Amino acid sequence: MRFESNLACELNEIHLRNPLVLASGVMGTSPALLLRVARSGAGAVTAKSCSPQPREGHPNPVMAEWEHGLINAIGLSNPGVDEEVEQLIEVQQQLSSIGVPLFASIFAGSAEEFGEVATVISEAHPALIEANISCPNVHNDFGLPFAADAKSAAEVVRFVKNAVGTIPVAVKLAPNVPDIGRIAQAVVAEGADVITAINTMPGMLIDADAGLPVLSNRSGGISGPALKPIALRCVAEIARSVDVPIIGTGGVITGRDAIEMLMAGATAVGVGSAFWYRGTEAFAVILDEIKDFMIDHNIQEISQLIGKAL
Ligand SMILES: Cc1cc2nc3c(=O)[nH]c(=O)nc-3n(C[C@H](O)[C@H](O)[C@H](O)COP(=O)(O)O)c2cc1C
Repeated sequence: MRFESNLACELNEIHLRNPLVLASGVMGTSPALLLRVARSGAGAVTAKSCSPQPREGHPNPVMAEWEHGLINAIGLSNPGVDEEVEQLIEVQQQLSSIGVPLFASIFAGSAEEFGEVATVISEAHPALIEANISCPNVHNDFGLPFAADAKSAAEVVRFVKNAVGTIPVAVKLAPNVPDIGRIAQAVVAEGADVITAINTMPGMLIDADAGLPVLSNRSGGISGPALKPIALRCVAEIARSVDVPIIGTGGVITGRDAIEMLMAGATAVGVGSAFWYRGTEAFAVILDEIKDFMIDHNIQEISQLIGKAL
């Protein structure tokens, strides 16, 4: 007997028709692209991270593929929060008419500035504001990113929570830390409602013929298949350490990958590099694969999978 599998889930009171969330940055902020991804099946879409001022980003080449994944050093190019909020206001109305929540993403050089950007972006009434803390803290003597230090990560949450009223706040953690569970505890203690894990992993590619790094920025962030085992481990650590929903992100290319991410303890699943591997219909294809898995394994509710492998 065939049954209808239920893919809907609740992410901190945000209703998602399915757990797949467009990861930040992969589709830029173009309203047309965010809408296209929403129409192709996404449960929610995250806009590109924006900063207090516009940023040009790094010169080309900024992205490359190798046998096991992608590497990018876009340099967080964005139009700045004042322009981005206008774009998000425009796309927000259309997204809500098709029932797909919009998540905003912000970054800044200090905790105070994080609060200022959060205040402006709130005007678009996103369903969630994600703080991308994988950027350098200008007040840190060693230029360490906020994500590398529990105290500075928590301070960002304090300022963002104060700025956004009732809008839930997600914090996006970085994989290259000795104890990601401890960082998660610090941000949740300060009021983070959701954790997104993970951002890309720092890496470098060298072209042996040219004897040069492949990217103009020399190093970049690894995403795609190579990131999956790292992301699964981080999500499982976080799920064991805190009690807030997790958007598990990193290397989800197939429905099976998404199922594994849920089993590691994620409530929702971020999808980014899959667009490179599976084209613009990535969401529809991954959703079909999830449904097939659920039917084959007699699973009616997607929530039954959460944390199964912990
Ligand atoms: C081209 C590109 C741009 C990205 N830009 C951002 C960004 O602006 N903000 C952010 O938080 N993460 C950004 N990321 C990281 C993704 O959101 C995601 O965390 C990462 O790529 C891992 O997921 P994936 O393996 O599914 O791509 C970017 C990734 C890529 C590949």
